[in-house]
Amino acid sequence: MPQLCSSREVDVSAFLADGLNLKAHLGSYLNLSIDAVEQRLPSSTEELADLHPGAFRAEDATAFYEDTVGTGHLLELAAWHLSSADYIADTLRLQGMCARGQVLDFGGGIGTHALSAALLPQVDHVWFVDLNPHNRAFVQQRAEALAISHKLSTHRDLAETAAVRFDTVVCLDVLEHLPDPSAQLLDFHSRMQPGSLALLNWYFFKGDHGQYPFHFDDPGLVEQFFQTLQSRFLEIFHPLLITTRAYQPIG
Ligand SMILES: C[S@@+](CC[C@H](N)C(=O)[O-])C[C@H]1O[C@@H](n2cnc3c(N)ncnc32)[C@H](O)[C@@H]1O
Repeated sequence: MPQLCSSREVDVSAFLADGLNLKAHLGSYLNLSIDAVEQRLPSSTEELADLHPGAFRAEDATAFYEDTVGTGHLLELAAWHLSSADYIADTLRLQGMCARGQVLDFGGGIGTHALSAALLPQVDHVWFVDLNPHNRAFVQQRAEALAISHKLSTHRDLAETAAVRFDTVVCLDVLEHLPDPSAQLLDFHSRMQPGSLALLNWYFFKGDHGQYPFHFDDPGLVEQFFQTLQSRFLEIFHPLLITTRAYQPIG
């Protein structure tokens, strides 16, 4: 069984200070002053939801994340990570307890987890995968600014990392965006080995006010997801969060 280190050994102070210099990095990537970044953050969730066409067919998902979203997710995720810093910090503590070797951050967004993983001495390389080209370019730029670009590479999809077996898979707040989250779990499973760990969470819900129109919530899709999760992964207890869970592959 994989051994987790203690949460007390994980230092998340750099993230809690300023999100790893997040506003400055955003200003530099978007060519905005810090004041302008701060003005745009509060409306970013609404602006992202407004980009969505409403009814969402599974076959539209790739084009939505790859083209339509543009820089929308940068601001929305930044607003969330800064306003819910204590919650994100706990996911980083969990990552620090589990991550080692070759780390996949699938759907890595603005790179908070990928960059933090690359800063850990027990991590050899972080494979950041995200469909959105702005997210990839932003995270590459952030890695350079933090002097860790030699430990991180960015990729559109898992096929670009075909030869790698991952010791750690991080997939946070992504599975509900995928038209087939069960197939994604099987993909992860096939790229892990005994001793590997996956950190996963999900939110198959469009929100009380429909603020997450891009989340899939079909009951059949959710049932299939849990069938696969419960037949191919065993949960490992950790004391930090009940939303984000750690799994080892089985079968
Ligand atoms: C809600 S964000 C989560 C970002 C990050 N993991 C976090 O916790 O802040 C979802 C991310 O998944 C990415 N994404 C959506 N579908 C994807 C796919 N099929 N392959 C890779 N990335 C995908 C989006 O571009 C977006 O960056």
